[in-house]
Amino acid sequence: MARKKIVLIGGGQIGGIQALLCAQKQLGDVVVLDIPDAEGMVKGKTLDIAESTAIGGYDCNLSGTSNYADIAGADVVIVTAGLPRKPGMTRDDLLDVNVKIITNVAQNVKKYAPGAFCVIVTNPLDSMVYAFRKVTGFPKNMVCGMAGILDTSRFRSFIAMELNVSVVDVAATVMGGHGPTMVPLPRLCTVGGIPLIELMSQEKIDAISKRTREAGTEIVKLLGNGSAFFSPAASSIVMAESFLLDKKRVLACAAYLEGEYGINGYYLGVPIVIGAGGVEKIVEVKLTDDEKALLNVSLDAVKVAVKDVDSRI
Ligand code: APR
Repeated sequence: MARKKIVLIGGGQIGGIQALLCAQKQLGDVVVLDIPDAEGMVKGKTLDIAESTAIGGYDCNLSGTSNYADIAGADVVIVTAGLPRKPGMTRDDLLDVNVKIITNVAQNVKKYAPGAFCVIVTNPLDSMVYAFRKVTGFPKNMVCGMAGILDTSRFRSFIAMELNVSVVDVAATVMGGHGPTMVPLPRLCTVGGIPLIELMSQEKIDAISKRTREAGTEIVKLLGNGSAFFSPAASSIVMAESFLLDKKRVLACAAYLEGEYGINGYYLGVPIVIGAGGVEKIVEVKLTDDEKALLNVSLDAVKVAVKDVDSRI
C-alpha cells in the first residue's frame, strides 16, 4: 500500500513539531509548505527531521516547498499558516491578517488538493475554519478545526496534576469556541470512571476551569514571543491519525453545525467522531440549562468574528 501524503501548510513552530510527529508515528510522507521567503527554513527543518529518522527507525519522506503544485494528491492538509499571538493580544486580534492568509491558502488547497481531509489550526480558530470552508466550498465532513482537543487536554492535565493521578485516566470534554468563553464541562468529567465532582471541591473545579479558559494566554505570557506549539501540534496530529487509520476517535473539535445543539451555520467546538469519512458524526450531549447558556455565550463571541469574516470574503 502506498504511503499516505500529509501536507502541512505553515512550517513555523507548530508545523515543525507536526512534521516530527508525523514521521515518528509513520503516518505517511510529509510535505511542508510555507511562503517563498521561508522556503529555506522548511527545507532545512524537514531535512533535519529526515536525518533523525535513521536514529528513530521510522520510514518517512519529508520535503519543504513553497510551490503549491507539490501538495497535489494530499490525503490530509493541516493549516497553521498565519500569525501567532504576542503578549497582550487576543486571538481575535489576529483576524485581520490571518483571514487574508487563510483565503489564499484555501484557494490553493481547492485547486491542488480538493480531496484532502482539512484540519485548520490558525487562530482565531472558529472563524478561520469557517473562512476556509467558505472559500473552498468543501463538504462539511472534510473540514474541521483543531481546538477542543487542546482545550480538553489542558483541562485533563490540570485535573491530573491536582489529584496526582495519571492523565490517561482523566476523561473530559471542553466545548464551545477556542477563546476565553470556551466551556469546560466538569459534570461530564470522570477519573478512572468516577465522576470528578465526587473527587474535587467545587472551588477547585472552578479554579481549574478558569485556568483552562486562560491556558493559551498563560503560555503566551511565559513564552514572550509566540504562542503554544507542542500541544497544538500534538492535538492536530491526533485528528489526522484518526482519519488516516480510521480510528473513529471521539474528539472535541470545531465542526460545522447544522441544527445540532440548536446551532445553525457556524463552526463550534463539540465532540465528534473522526474516521476514514472525515467528520463522521457530531455527538450530541444533553446539556443542562446552565451549560447550554454558557455554550450560547461562546457562540455569540464566535458570531462576532464570523460576521467580520463574512464582510471580507
Ligand atoms: N502561506 C503559507 N504559510 C504562511 C503564510 C501563507 N500565506 N503566511 C504565513 N505563513 C507561515 C509563516 O511563514 C510561518 O512559518 O506560517 C507559519 C506560522 O508559524 P509561526 O509564526 O511559528 O506560528 P505558530 O506558532 O506555528 O502558529 C500558527 O496557529 O495556533 C495558531 O495562533 C496560532 O495562528 C497561529 C498559527
